[in-house]
Amino acid sequence: MIRLGRFIQSLALMVMKPDDLVEFGRQTYARGVGCWGSDDVLAEGLSPVETALLEKIPEKQGRLLLLGVGGGREAIPLARLGFEVTGVDFIPELVQQAKENAARHGVQIEGLVQEISELDMPAGSFDIVWLSRRMYSCVPTRGRRLEMLRRIHRALRPGGYFICTYLWQTQKMSSPIAELARKIFAFLTRGNLEYEPGDILWNSLEFVHAFSSEAELRSEFAAGGFAVCHLHIPASGEEGGAVLAPR
Ligand SMILES: C[S@@+](CC[C@H](N)C(=O)[O-])C[C@H]1O[C@@H](n2cnc3c(N)ncnc32)[C@H](O)[C@@H]1O
Repeated sequence: MIRLGRFIQSLALMVMKPDDLVEFGRQTYARGVGCWGSDDVLAEGLSPVETALLEKIPEKQGRLLLLGVGGGREAIPLARLGFEVTGVDFIPELVQQAKENAARHGVQIEGLVQEISELDMPAGSFDIVWLSRRMYSCVPTRGRRLEMLRRIHRALRPGGYFICTYLWQTQKMSSPIAELARKIFAFLTRGNLEYEPGDILWNSLEFVHAFSSEAELRSEFAAGGFAVCHLHIPASGEEGGAVLAPR
């Protein structure tokens, strides 16, 4: 009965189309505005994975586009390091908070309200695009992630870099029968017809695609027009990272 209960819980992901999944995540973040701009989150600064990825690129300054800026946790230390930061988020209050928090911490950042899979930036306008806290995984469907990669590619100057982190999980996914049942449910409800194994509704809060194969990651990045300069596959799961360069 518990397995059946969990299976039924997982069906929530299947009734939502990709646009619904983005809106579902937006509503979650709109409810938690205060959390991302809190002093506790800001005090975390850059994570060890983020610092290690940053060390892989030669650029120590330049224009940096930070996708999913939240309250400015990464924006503030990156601006302190000397990058000219533009933060993007689909929650206007968070963009405002990030700018205010940055000013409070003695640095200035620009802010824009956009949905990252529909990113719209002038061509060749950034040296680095940054998407961390496993947010690469939060874009629903491979098709939408590829579209985002193409838009990031366009926003980068030649010789620029895209740094991102994603959710990595190697444990066994659900059984083939459960996968088939999910797909049938999506078909019957005209819901998430682009469902892929690894897609989950993380804590019933937002869409996440967990990657479990290096080949899948490499083929997705290549299809989006990027060469892999560095790939961090975590030994025990959770946050993986990549440094990519436009081809
Ligand atoms: C997990 S929080 C991380 C915030 C910040 N980067 C940090 O690490 O503290 C994700 C942030 O990305 C934003 N976000 C999530 N999905 C987005 C989307 N599709 N388009 C734009 N912003 C998005 C959320 O509003 C939230 O501020």
